[in-house]
Amino acid sequence: SSMQLLRVFYWSAGSLVAFFLAWILQPLEWHNLHDTESLITRWGYPFESHIVRTEDGYILEIQRIKHGRNAPDPAHHRPPVLLQHGLALDSSNYVANLPNQSLAFLLADAGFDVWLGNSRGNSYGRKHESLHHWDFEFWNFSWQEMANHDVPAIVDKVLEVTGEQRLNYIGHSQGALILFARLTEDEELTKKIHNVFALAPALSVTNIRGPIAGIAPLAPILQQIEQLAGGSFGVFRRSIVNTIIGQVLCNNDYLSTACARYFYANGGIESKQLNTSRMDVYLSSYPDGMSTKNVVHFGQMVLHKRTARFDYGADENLARYGCRIAPAYNFTNVKVPMYIWYSPQDYLVSDVDIQEMIIPTLDSQYLKLNKSLPSYNHVDFHWGLNAVADIYEPIIEILTSETKIR
Ligand SMILES: *[C@@H]1O[C@H](CO)[C@@H](O)[C@H](O)[C@H]1NC(C)=O
Ligand SMILES: *[C@@H]1O[C@H](CO)[C@@H](O)[C@H](O)[C@H]1NC(C)=O
Ligand SMILES: *[C@@H]1O[C@H](CO)[C@@H](O)[C@H](O)[C@H]1NC(C)=O
Ligand SMILES: *[C@@H]1O[C@H](CO)[C@@H](O)[C@H](O)[C@H]1NC(C)=O
Ligand SMILES: *[C@@H]1O[C@H](CO)[C@@H](O)[C@H](O)[C@H]1NC(C)=O
Repeated sequence: SSMQLLRVFYWSAGSLVAFFLAWILQPLEWHNLHDTESLITRWGYPFESHIVRTEDGYILEIQRIKHGRNAPDPAHHRPPVLLQHGLALDSSNYVANLPNQSLAFLLADAGFDVWLGNSRGNSYGRKHESLHHWDFEFWNFSWQEMANHDVPAIVDKVLEVTGEQRLNYIGHSQGALILFARLTEDEELTKKIHNVFALAPALSVTNIRGPIAGIAPLAPILQQIEQLAGGSFGVFRRSIVNTIIGQVLCNNDYLSTACARYFYANGGIESKQLNTSRMDVYLSSYPDGMSTKNVVHFGQMVLHKRTARFDYGADENLARYGCRIAPAYNFTNVKVPMYIWYSPQDYLVSDVDIQEMIIPTLDSQYLKLNKSLPSYNHVDFHWGLNAVADIYEPIIEILTSETKIR
């Protein structure tokens, strides 16, 4: 009807104005509307920010929810749990929903000391001791450097502040990959990880589907562009633009379904477990910053059908790794209790990859749980509402009995 048309016109015009305003306002770096701190403090949880320095000079902000909403019992031991986000995302993923729906809040209220990690290149990892984020050298990394430098530095910071010997690690997608990769070659780190909970872990992406699958073969072209440009560069960051688009375009009855569909397009099926009234929160952190070299590395995983170190070409591989083909990661060498959840409807990390490429390579002595969940999109593992019953409550049960918290 004409009334509806008018409303659509209103929303379109409003969005254009919002987009324009946001674009003008962007230099103000007014991007903290739904940042991790405000999402935590708005519900009355205690917030702490800690700075991690990696051995190659990156400066990362990680966050902590020291205890639940009720004042803690000082006699009560709160084991540390570290939550690590995936590609083009950030720590806000774990506090994006209501307190009874977000993994970090549920863990804090269940008696754990919750830590939220951030990887280099996202909005909390854009600083370096000597490089500026305008420098190409700053963006000269892929997930391999996150595994080698970010993971050990973040884990050490958590153990240093808490005075604990080891922690529990929960990683989504790339967040799980970087821990697993490092654990294959770091016995010191292995001693510091009590349990690892892997949500749609990107340990193999050979059977990737959907729009991203069409982009993966373009990785060599992206490398050409990097060469022309002068090096790897950063793309995306948290911005008020995304938040306003989310608020104006998506948080309304007319467009929320279309927005959710756009949102879901890359990650798999439309699973209907997203709270479409919170699109502004989700969109303000998606996509967050990443380097083009990281995209190339994931592209190599798809093209070569293996999970290996970054492929620099035969000559440089030989100089760097001592062999012409970039060496694969051998996940048999991960010797930490593992709990894995994944879904056949996830386009990025498919059940075929997990069941055929990964699980047979794992040391079965350490594989404690391998669960395929029907109808999960890649983002449902941290934003979906069903994840509470399907994943978060089981994690809390396991952690509570493993760490003898009660
Ligand atoms: C969380 O709380 C809201 C409102 O209090 C309620 O509608 C919802 O069912 C709860 N969700 C879960 C998973 O308990
Ligand atoms: C990127 O880092 C590697 C070392 O890991 C170095 O060989 C290369 O020159 C660097 N490239 C740029 C553009 O900084
Ligand atoms: C969805 O989010 C809205 C707004 O943030 C909130 O008021 C509502 O309770 C949430 N709905 C569910 C089902 O959790
Ligand atoms: C991985 O490591 C295990 C144990 O060290 C070894 O038995 C296996 O052959 C290795 N797999 C590959 C593909 O190299
Ligand atoms: C993992 O789960 C799948 C699906 O439930 C099952 O077929 C497979 O046997 C399991 N593998 C292991 C090693 O537990």
